[in-house]
Amino acid sequence: MALLPPQFKKLGDSKLLKQIETDLEVVETRIQTATTQTNSVVDSMSNHLAKAGGKRLRPLLVLLTSHLGSGTNSDVSDAAVVMEVTHLATLYHDDVMDEASTRRGVDAAHVVWGNNIAILTGDLLFARAANIVSHLGTEALQLQAQVFEQLVLGQLHETIGPGDSDPLQHYFDVVRDKTGSLISLSARLGALLAGADDAYQEPLRLYGERVGIAFQLADDLIDIRASKKDSGKVAGTDILAGVPTLPALLLTAYEDDDSKTLASDIAKASEANIASVLERLRNHPVIAQAEEVTDSWADMAVDALEPLPSGSVKSALEAFARAVVDRKG
Ligand code: IPE
Ligand code: IPE
Ligand code: MG
Ligand code: MG
Repeated sequence: MALLPPQFKKLGDSKLLKQIETDLEVVETRIQTATTQTNSVVDSMSNHLAKAGGKRLRPLLVLLTSHLGSGTNSDVSDAAVVMEVTHLATLYHDDVMDEASTRRGVDAAHVVWGNNIAILTGDLLFARAANIVSHLGTEALQLQAQVFEQLVLGQLHETIGPGDSDPLQHYFDVVRDKTGSLISLSARLGALLAGADDAYQEPLRLYGERVGIAFQLADDLIDIRASKKDSGKVAGTDILAGVPTLPALLLTAYEDDDSKTLASDIAKASEANIASVLERLRNHPVIAQAEEVTDSWADMAVDALEPLPSGSVKSALEAFARAVVDRKG
């Protein structure tokens, strides 16, 4: 498997990048081990998505920030595995909730085995992640538990909806919690477990949270315009599942008739008309507006790095923030 997606190959310093690619190979072997089960039927369920692909962005962040300290060691590699396996578990559950048909270019687990198996396999992977993190010290363990709670609350709040609160604020809170939380922890854990200066923790937390928000906003845009070839997912899944995304939320501020009709067609879109709804949305100025907001989160992520020392890691983290919003899948 080509471990680094092409746009992430431009993270700067080639020596650092080469090191990270070597480290990612170690992590990859450990991810495959962590998703293995002795029973062959359970094994095929538990490694279904790990084998199918994925960008490994969370492990990449863990490895990168370890170079703010003494670099990769066995604990850092295990933390990278914990981040990917936790993420994997959330994907099994998320595809049940969103009724998504494909993931990483293959059938979603619930399509192959049904919802019960997909939910239990996600739980199995959470258990594996908890087991590995339990060896990484109390601080890592506590952070993992807190972030897991935050992530689940994000998914819960998305499901419950905004109620009486402002829909846009609710949306940003959800995105921060469901996606920013794990990406933020990935940025912190590498530095923590490689003995980097404690003063880097808060900038990395903020950077990761903002990169995570930018990442999810980019993901929402991909859901509107992606080809399955690039993203491994089917376009329009969010709209069909009734999951609010930034373009749809921003559209509600447009007063003209075309925009109002489009907003109401998005709200009641079905398999039969999703292609034409997506086409109209792609051609609406709200897409450029959503892209601007997405870019601004990447800019704010870069701003958060200000307290870090200049050097190859900081430059790579800046490039990572840009690459996250400049992607097709
Ligand atoms: C998908 O994450 C879920 C989101 C939080 C948007 P990724 O886009 O990182 O998925 P993989 O790991 O590459 O499949
Ligand atoms: C995924 O959010 C967030 C988590 C899995 C925690 P989405 O539902 O928007 O992500 P995709 O588009 O299915 O990857
Ligand atoms: Mg989803
Ligand atoms: Mg979802």
